[in-house]
Amino acid sequence: MKWIRNTAFVYLALGAFTAMAAAQDAGAPPARGDRPPMRGGPGGRGMMGGPGGARGGGPGFSANPVPKDDAEKKVLNVLDEIQRQGRGMSVPRDDGRLLRLLAESTGAKHAVEIGTFHGYSGIWTCLGLRAGGGKLTTFEIDPRNAEISRQNFKRAGVDSMVTLIEGDAHVEVAKLKGPIDMVFIDADKEGYTDYLNKLLPLVRPGGLVVAHNISAGMADPKYIEAINTNPALESVFVSAGSGGISVSMKKR
Ligand SMILES: C[S@@+](CC[C@H](N)C(=O)[O-])C[C@H]1O[C@@H](n2cnc3c(N)ncnc32)[C@H](O)[C@@H]1O
Repeated sequence: MKWIRNTAFVYLALGAFTAMAAAQDAGAPPARGDRPPMRGGPGGRGMMGGPGGARGGGPGFSANPVPKDDAEKKVLNVLDEIQRQGRGMSVPRDDGRLLRLLAESTGAKHAVEIGTFHGYSGIWTCLGLRAGGGKLTTFEIDPRNAEISRQNFKRAGVDSMVTLIEGDAHVEVAKLKGPIDMVFIDADKEGYTDYLNKLLPLVRPGGLVVAHNISAGMADPKYIEAINTNPALESVFVSAGSGGISVSMKKR
């Protein structure tokens, strides 16, 4: 009987985690293909998506976020507005929620994002950082995207937490100083390994490197090999039906 109870618990826990990480937005439009790999240049190819970003791999348990107070409500409203304007290359909503959860639960003080686009995932990250007085440094190569994200950060009231660096992140990250608590990589796919190599030395022990679009046909195999074979990292893959995310922890 005991093993039945334990097995049931493991299934329940796995189901809950998958739902949390990847579940799709109830009532959102049908799933569509994810973003194509970008080739380093500005912008990449946007694909319009409806609110919610319905591409979750979960069983559909995800519900709308419930704000704890007016400040959170204000930020969530802006995130909804950004999605209503067209998701473009932004992460699906539940991937944003996962970023918030990771930032907040690890008490992150400094998060670094590669690939700002319109600030959607950055605002989710700020939601997780603000309770602990954390800051976000985010990199964007395209000046139009940088300008739109600046406006969105302001609308969400998180602009004072954000340092937006315009330029090629492969070059600009060299100016960063550690410690970094959490890195989120969501830019040129073939550049992920370079970002990992440059940023991992700055990530504190116990810190996280999170990467987006880690799915078959999207992820650079060199990046997968790098995070799977580095003994300093513990990596898991979540949300495979929703763009795919890897979460790698730098071991203590
Ligand atoms: C997928 S979008 C980021 C979406 C964003 N993380 C979100 O979910 O709201 C990728 C962004 O990376 C930017 N990008 C591509 N290559 C870059 C590079 N070498 N340096 C900085 N930004 C880059 C693109 O211009 C684009 O805005």
